[in-house]
Amino acid sequence: MNSQTLACNAEQLLANERERYQQLHPNSMALAASAQQHFLYGVPMHWMNDWGTPAPLFVSHAQGAHFTCADNIDYTDFCLGDTGAMFGHCPAAVAQAIANQANKGYTAMLPSTLAPDVGNALTAFFGLPYWQLATTATDANRFVLRWARAVTQRRKLLVFDGCYHGTVDDTMVDVVDEKTENRASLLGQVHSLGLYTVAVPFNDLDAVEQALVSGEFAALLTEPALTNCGMVLPNDGFIESLRALCTKYGTLLILDETHTISTAHGGWAKANKVTPDFLVVGKPIAGGLPAAAYGFSAKMAARMQSAKDAAPAGHSGIGTTLSGNMMTLAAIHATLTQVATESAYQHMRNLASTLEVALMKTIQAHDLPWQISRMGARLELQFCEKAPNNAAQARAAQNETLESAIHLYLLNRGVLLTPFHNMMLVCPSTTQADVTKLANTFNDCLSKLKATY
Ligand SMILES: Cc1ncc(COP(=O)(O)O)c(C=O)c1O
Repeated sequence: MNSQTLACNAEQLLANERERYQQLHPNSMALAASAQQHFLYGVPMHWMNDWGTPAPLFVSHAQGAHFTCADNIDYTDFCLGDTGAMFGHCPAAVAQAIANQANKGYTAMLPSTLAPDVGNALTAFFGLPYWQLATTATDANRFVLRWARAVTQRRKLLVFDGCYHGTVDDTMVDVVDEKTENRASLLGQVHSLGLYTVAVPFNDLDAVEQALVSGEFAALLTEPALTNCGMVLPNDGFIESLRALCTKYGTLLILDETHTISTAHGGWAKANKVTPDFLVVGKPIAGGLPAAAYGFSAKMAARMQSAKDAAPAGHSGIGTTLSGNMMTLAAIHATLTQVATESAYQHMRNLASTLEVALMKTIQAHDLPWQISRMGARLELQFCEKAPNNAAQARAAQNETLESAIHLYLLNRGVLLTPFHNMMLVCPSTTQADVTKLANTFNDCLSKLKATY
């Protein structure tokens, strides 16, 4: 089947599925109309309106790998709050820890008695000896960039084209005609971000070295794989080489493992024995409550303390009032010690591998030039024959209509994928039956897409 026919069929399928969505979800449609009265775009966060559904899907309750919408339909959730619920919705140990803390205080601008145990748990899980907390991974990245500039006394930041590290302004850049410029969609930014941020292609060591040799870069910030422009896996040895180049040129290596925590117990860096100067984690570390953390070595801790001690007293620009609050500490502790266990990861990786095989079989049976990338429990369907090697190739593989049609077809049959690209996550309570449901529904969807209307 040629791509033009496929595109035509995708448009038709999308139109049919939009109609079906409205029939199936009268309560969500009504809630959307009601929420319009006081919420911009009718949602608590404007991008919740960007899922491609005729109106947002309203959730009534969520548990494990499933949730129920306002129309009482059960969904198998492969989006899992795009990683916030990567260990499943409401893991029992986290629910218990929250309940225990509920009558003991939420926030006091002071550490709770659990703080030393949380430090131990972070170190046992991720390997680095020193930690600071933040409320979101966005904040953790912002804070680490501040520390990196303070300790190195350098200004510039190196990132990869296609990166996303939360809404950290320094990283909201694109490469246009080989120059780093503000991302066109960015609202309200008056500074030229390209003055201090340079973006180069992922998997391009020469481009990295050409930048770092100037000695101007405080930090290189990257995920071990790009996971927000589709998925781009690192070439063998790429991150290890970044480690070596950063050391050579006195640039700090920051690994943002907010998503690649899906790789294995302790994340990608621990599994691959790469020690970054800073490690950033967020999203699922408190079982879905807002929490993030960044880790660093003893040597880095000493450099940070020197930088802080040398500065005049007052605001450091690092920190927010609710970070490290008592409720969050309880939830992080329960998640890392009781939920995100080796055996939970084993289950997630095994099922994700089963899902990868099933989806690939379906793709091949339908003779489509598509492929699946996987990092532990995280999978990405991509509309290209060969895995992309950088963001430009990943972007070239995107097809909004096709993506929307597949997402909505699955959603209308009780299967949720991550919006904005084709990501699927497997959690500890995902079952073989859940995986089979996704694989079968995907197969039906491809049959529909290939059928002529
Ligand atoms: C790699 C990475 N880092 C950081 C963030 C920011 O996380 P949050 O939105 O929870 O601040 C994201 C969000 O998607 C992310 O993908």
